[in-house]
Amino acid sequence: MKAISVGMLGLGTVGSGVVTIIENHQDKLMHQIGCPVKLKKILVKSLDKQRAVEISPELLTTNEDEVLNDPDIDVVIEVMGGVDNTREYLLKALKNKKHVVTANKDLMAVYGTELHTAASENGCDLFYEASVAGGIPILRSLVDGLASDRITKMMGIVNGTTNFILTKMTKQGAAYQEVLKEAQELGYAEADPTSDVEGLDAARKMTILATLGFSMKVELDDVKVTGITQITEDDLKYAKQLGYTMKLLGIARRDEEKVDVSVQPTLLPDTHPLASVNDEYNAVYVFGEAVGETMFYGPGAGSLPTATSVVSDLVGVIKNMRLGVNGRSAVTPQYPKKLKSPDEIFSKYFLRLHVYDEVGVFADITGIFSKHKVSFEKILQMPLKRKELAEIVLVTHHASLKDYEEILVELNELHSVKEIKSSYRVERGER
Ligand code: NAP
Ligand code: HSE
Repeated sequence: MKAISVGMLGLGTVGSGVVTIIENHQDKLMHQIGCPVKLKKILVKSLDKQRAVEISPELLTTNEDEVLNDPDIDVVIEVMGGVDNTREYLLKALKNKKHVVTANKDLMAVYGTELHTAASENGCDLFYEASVAGGIPILRSLVDGLASDRITKMMGIVNGTTNFILTKMTKQGAAYQEVLKEAQELGYAEADPTSDVEGLDAARKMTILATLGFSMKVELDDVKVTGITQITEDDLKYAKQLGYTMKLLGIARRDEEKVDVSVQPTLLPDTHPLASVNDEYNAVYVFGEAVGETMFYGPGAGSLPTATSVVSDLVGVIKNMRLGVNGRSAVTPQYPKKLKSPDEIFSKYFLRLHVYDEVGVFADITGIFSKHKVSFEKILQMPLKRKELAEIVLVTHHASLKDYEEILVELNELHSVKEIKSSYRVERGER
């Protein structure tokens, strides 16, 4: 078989890793696919930039058509990021019958259906393993490994940057801004880290996971998102005292035919397997009706780990080329989308309040919870430096989101509650 020619869009953190793996693993690739892989052209923004890998200058171009319109190029690897131009480039690549491998969750979370349709219409493969949890082969595990099961719950630490930040804040008491800078220098964070710290990056990945895991077209707008920017040292201190670890967790759950998907800082018992996933590492816990609990763990970001997934997708494309089955792997969702309403979503909650230290305050607070039939699992009360104030930290038993949101509104209206300092979901890991 003749060499497979690959065009690449982008030569940054991930693109450099792809070059390294293709160069270093030629023997293994040759053994797996029976032909050499040749990088023919790479689109970049700047031709003069210093590169992390040695690359012949004639391979680089700033004209995308040298990749997208080259009839010799069989596969386009997209590792440049961005959405609008990138969508246009990939639609053009597919129209020109080039298979596409992408690491771009921003694009797949929003334009996944359109790109899948274009790929099928043109008999092309579209693979995006690296778009969720970097080096962990989670998408293949959902689509192939667990194909025979019915998945009912997925919980994911799917953003390396925020996991790195929360780990350093929890274990070393490090300051948020300082650790964010370190994550950027290490290449984990997006060019604009807002999407990492505000939870949007994780939401995009949960959109992809929920769509594949539940075989239902979940949209980004269906995911309720809260990021990590409001977490304080005090929250982490109380979490520790109560035996919890704070993680930015994506949670997707199916009950009967309805689903809910969210991303939020969540307290996990220290003994939960996801609680020991630290630094930039990611993990996705998947519960299937037949298999029970499974967990997939590994590096969620970084040059070589992410490039491993990209190049594995490339191997998948080339194997399909040999078998003549490209463009047939996309499966249309089996179920129509049905989302739960807030009275159908249940969780436990951690709540931290500053209250006026007066007779009857506690009765007022418990009265509101009792009215909504929500009871407490844990309660702490501490005096504050300001003598007239006290701090109350409590963990509820299960409550519906509807009840809990109403409780927060009613607590805010109590004159004895000075401020709701923080509130987090608590997951015990039941299915
Ligand atoms: P990056 O380091 O910023 O690299 C982006 C590359 O694309 C650069 O080489 C840049 O060219 C090129 N580029 C960007 N916009 C371009 C444009 N309009 N025209 C031509 N070239 C353009 O990004 P990255 O971290 O490698 O991420 C790439 C993709 O992988 C993103 O979708 C990201 O979300 C995803 N991803 C990243 C990681 C990770 O750990 N970094 C993990 C999983 C997925 P210049 O070099 O000339 O500036
Ligand atoms: N910024 C992302 C993260 C890169 O921190 O997980 C991997 O998608």
